[in-house]
Amino acid sequence: MSEVRIANVCKEYPGHGAHDDAVLALERVNFEAKDHEFCSILGHSGCGKTTLLNLLAGFERPTRGQVLVDGQPVGKPTWERTIVFQDYALFPWMTVEQNIAFGLEMKKIPAQDREAIVSRHIDLVGLSGFEKRYPHQLSGGMKQRVSIARALAVEPHVLLMDEPFAALDAQNRAMMQEELGRMLASSDARQRKTMVLVTHSIEEAIILSDRIVVLTRRPGRVKANIEVDLPRPRSEADPRFIDLKMELRNLIHDEFQVEQ
Ligand SMILES: Nc1ncnc2c1ncn2[C@@H]1O[C@H](COP(=O)(O)OP(=O)(O)OP(=O)(O)O)[C@@H](O)[C@H]1O
Ligand SMILES: [Mg+2]
Repeated sequence: MSEVRIANVCKEYPGHGAHDDAVLALERVNFEAKDHEFCSILGHSGCGKTTLLNLLAGFERPTRGQVLVDGQPVGKPTWERTIVFQDYALFPWMTVEQNIAFGLEMKKIPAQDREAIVSRHIDLVGLSGFEKRYPHQLSGGMKQRVSIARALAVEPHVLLMDEPFAALDAQNRAMMQEELGRMLASSDARQRKTMVLVTHSIEEAIILSDRIVVLTRRPGRVKANIEVDLPRPRSEADPRFIDLKMELRNLIHDEFQVEQ
């Protein structure tokens, strides 16, 4: 079980002097992602989406309110909650396979089992043949795929993703979305995870999510929390898909107007 709850969370980054004011990134944010639910976060640049994922991963602490997983306040980062970072955050001195194996060592998976897990995940993201390459030898999309493989390899209970497909071409993007869709539908409990995805793509959010949380401009507050109960696999031609897309577009567009 892995239920995620953000309860009345405020996050303020302190300033460092007269010309560096404190920044209120999130203000009284409330939402829940139930066990095995796929939850997407939509919102403008700077509204606190990455901050929210960092709170869930345990890299940051809320200024007020609580971040709970299975009713327990989130403590230090662990393999149980992994994150695909917006900027990949690969170790530059490690090869593709070493980057992916890193979390397995942290999880204390025996060395003899690591190799098979690493190669399965390299396969999964279509990087066979690139095992010995270093991050600087890879394209942006390839780095992103390594980051996805690294986050999945430890079989986390909660998978946090910050624009994981942004640098992928349309084909790879569709492939990874399909793979995530398969994991969502899997009857194997190890495969199914609670997922929180930050994305700029309304279509991607609708294709994948059980729930879509729209944030306001900074400080981020919950503007809308929408359950998506369209049957899967979802078709962009479905009139309900189109209606929801319009609704989300309007919500985001309204926020843009606020700033003008
Ligand atoms: N470590 C930090 N120290 C100070 N301010 C920060 C820090 N991290 C984020 N902020 C500020 O908090 C606000 C929210 O930032 P955050 O990175 O969470 O936004 P975001 O929604 O992920 O934006 P984007 O879509 O551009 O990635 C911004 O104003 C940012 O400048
Ligand atoms: Mg961000």
